[in-house]
Amino acid sequence: MGSKTLCFFFFLFFVAVSFKYASAHDEEDNGLVMNFYKDTCPQAEDIIKEQVRLLYKRHKNTAFSWLRNIFHDCAVQSCDASLLLDSTRRTLSEKETDRSFGLRNFRYIETIKEAVERECPGVVSCADILVLSARDGIVSLGGPYIPLRTGRRDGRKSRADILENYLPDHNESMSVVLERFAAMGIDTPGVVALLGAHSVGRTHCVKLVHRLYPQVDPVLNPGHVEHMLYKCPDEIPDPKAVQYVRNDRGTPMILDNNYYRNILDNKGLLIVDHQLATDKRTKPYVKKMAKKQDYFFKEFSRAITILSENNPLTGTKGEIRKQCNVANKLH
Ligand code: HEM
Ligand SMILES: *[C@@H]1O[C@H](CO)[C@@H](O)[C@H](O)[C@H]1NC(C)=O
Repeated sequence: MGSKTLCFFFFLFFVAVSFKYASAHDEEDNGLVMNFYKDTCPQAEDIIKEQVRLLYKRHKNTAFSWLRNIFHDCAVQSCDASLLLDSTRRTLSEKETDRSFGLRNFRYIETIKEAVERECPGVVSCADILVLSARDGIVSLGGPYIPLRTGRRDGRKSRADILENYLPDHNESMSVVLERFAAMGIDTPGVVALLGAHSVGRTHCVKLVHRLYPQVDPVLNPGHVEHMLYKCPDEIPDPKAVQYVRNDRGTPMILDNNYYRNILDNKGLLIVDHQLATDKRTKPYVKKMAKKQDYFFKEFSRAITILSENNPLTGTKGEIRKQCNVANKLH
């Protein structure tokens, strides 16, 4: 073989190697995967789990917040932690809109983030912390363990201006509710299961008084009306008093299928809760979930998985926020 030929083969070899390298580089964006941080921050998921556990010990209601966050962040265009951003001089935060009413415990997301940052600075996104805290919060509440993928990155913009196009209101029609979830790939049993999250936590009187005053909504269970009137004695709730009704009086701290028995018993607090139990499209699933906790958990896990993977930023899109409530400064 002449040296020219040899050179040619070397050349081919280098071309092949560099192609392979380049394509490996392109493939770096594998989207969401299980245990995305296994090489870059192997302890990440354990740290989050431990923080969720410690916070839950001190403040049980943090788990409600982690569960509600996954809906309010992921359903609004993307799971990109835009929910966690504070208002700036120019933009209103999602947190401060009417649909976000009652969201709480945001400062404890920072507690989790700080614990993760101490171990692996600048590696783990707030979007993944939000999703993993929901996963671990669900377990604290007695719900199923749902394995979830990671690799989400953080957005830089609040979506307060378009949030109402994505998050249904408390009195939305079931058609709109089903449509909004279908747009994310969540089917009817999935929607029924997700609303089962209203098996924990609370609803403030401001979201309920329209069902009590000036007339009581006749579809409400009279026994439950008595309780609601006791908890919400004023047509215009005192904004300084924190007045609310627990979503599930039976087992308020446990994520279980008691919610479905409540709504079949006309004890659903929100109009959407009531309609879930009466609409022809959703009622069969409500009945089935009321009977079978396993079925509820199975559908709930499936729907949370889809919700948690709604349109994430991956690869080199977005950023890894240093602090969850503010976008990074650009230099
Ligand atoms: C049609 C869809 C939904 C509507 C209209 C809706 C509306 C509401 C409203 C008005 C409250 C009461 C807030 C307050 O007064 O403090 C609430 C609470 C709550 N929601 Fe939803 N929600 C929906 C779906 C979901 C989903 C899909 C999840 C989670 C997977 C969820 C989780 C929660 C939780 C955990 C609470 C209690 C929060 C707490 O006690 O801090 N909701 N929701
Ligand atoms: C739903 O409730 C809001 C107040 O929270 C009200 O402004 C709106 O008109 C109601 N929508 C329907 C369809 O009743």
